[in-house]
Amino acid sequence: MTMSKQTHIVGVDLGTTSTTAIIAEAHEGELEVLGVGVAASSGVRKGAVVNPEAAADPIREAVEEAERMSGLVAESVYVSMSGTLLRGVNNHGVTAITHSDHHITHADIRRVIETASLVTLPGGYEIIDIHPQEYIVDGQDGINDPIEMLGTRLEVRAHIITGPMTLRRNVIAAVNRAGLLVAGVVLEPIAAAEAILTHDEREYGSVVINIGGETTSLAIYQRGAVQHTAIFPLGGSHFTSDIAFGLRTPIADAERIKREQGCVTPSLAMELDRTTVNVPAMGHRPSRTLSREILCQILQPRAEEMLHQVRDELRRSGFERQLSSGAIFTGGGALLKGLPALAEHILDYPARLGEPQQVRGIAGERPSALLTTALGLVLMGCRGRRLPQAATHHPPGRLLARTAARVRHWLSDLF
Ligand SMILES: Nc1ncnc2c1ncn2[C@@H]1O[C@H](COP(=O)(O)OP(=O)(O)OP(=O)(O)O)[C@@H](O)[C@H]1O
Ligand SMILES: [Mg+2]
Repeated sequence: MTMSKQTHIVGVDLGTTSTTAIIAEAHEGELEVLGVGVAASSGVRKGAVVNPEAAADPIREAVEEAERMSGLVAESVYVSMSGTLLRGVNNHGVTAITHSDHHITHADIRRVIETASLVTLPGGYEIIDIHPQEYIVDGQDGINDPIEMLGTRLEVRAHIITGPMTLRRNVIAAVNRAGLLVAGVVLEPIAAAEAILTHDEREYGSVVINIGGETTSLAIYQRGAVQHTAIFPLGGSHFTSDIAFGLRTPIADAERIKREQGCVTPSLAMELDRTTVNVPAMGHRPSRTLSREILCQILQPRAEEMLHQVRDELRRSGFERQLSSGAIFTGGGALLKGLPALAEHILDYPARLGEPQQVRGIAGERPSALLTTALGLVLMGCRGRRLPQAATHHPPGRLLARTAARVRHWLSDLF
């Protein structure tokens, strides 16, 4: 297959459990996935790359698999970023339009976003990403694109992601060590939302809840923009260790039992096909047969703990009563049976498992919930969304440049 380098986009989801690479092309407004590669992650803890050297091998492995499948070569990639130390804050910026004709220009937008990005940062923290939510021109709010509008006062509201400087640098270092350039770095729940939210869900209010291996991340959307983000240190691996501990079975068996027979509502367990679970024991002891209801009784409290944390975060966000399109789950941890139903009960919203939108070519043995973040990354690339990081291989000094200079650099990339 011969194709020009520019036509395909590569996304790499650097997860705690697995590293997933997707190579895709845009065709008539739809994304066609041409290659998928998955490798077991290393060097990632609670969503954050802690050892770039260790994280590079699975990146290389996953990308090579996707390259083989697609017959294409990856050079620069959009990569996900996560970590429980990341914080999302909303801020407001304002600037005067002083030129004589009062037409708003790209330079005015750059300036107003720069004022919105003046947030107080703890020592060692930096701004990682800026997502404009709306512009306000002479008091008129709800404007998505003010270019060429007439005005004297331009305001912006923006969601700003901040985090320790080392977090993003480690992600870039891992990708570079795998021999690839970085086209953009995107917060995981924002990439996931890109893949699964419909236009209406984005507009009328919804929350994407991505349950990974060691983290659960969420992103609230309303009026077409991200309004709130959060990441907790609780994920699918906690369910696995609860089974291993509760049923005294090795981790690998607990993981298999969870995937094949796990369920978070014991009453549902009785309605399912297999009502008993074969549990291998530690050491040389014989395996046991238990009721599936017992397995689900072990999983339910953890699911409730997770959903209560999500509910508390939604309350803190101030958007709890404004999410008319409800909760959309994704990530491997969301594949646990009964989770959306339990979420409806606890969150009091309609809840469902997300389905990738406008994507073809992913039918296969892997559930799409495991591919969502990587799909969102390629979608962001394909839709020409400008992302605030230039391709790398920059010397480290450049990556540590002062925040103000960085913001200017991103802004020039945004437009
Ligand atoms: N069928 C399934 N049923 C229940 N859980 C599952 C299933 N398939 C995968 N999981 C769980 O999903 C988790 C991994 O999900 P995912 O690949 O989205 O995480 P990750 O991106 O590697 O981690 P993170 O987002 O925390 O960095 C694991 O805990 C795994 O046990
Ligand atoms: Mg993940």
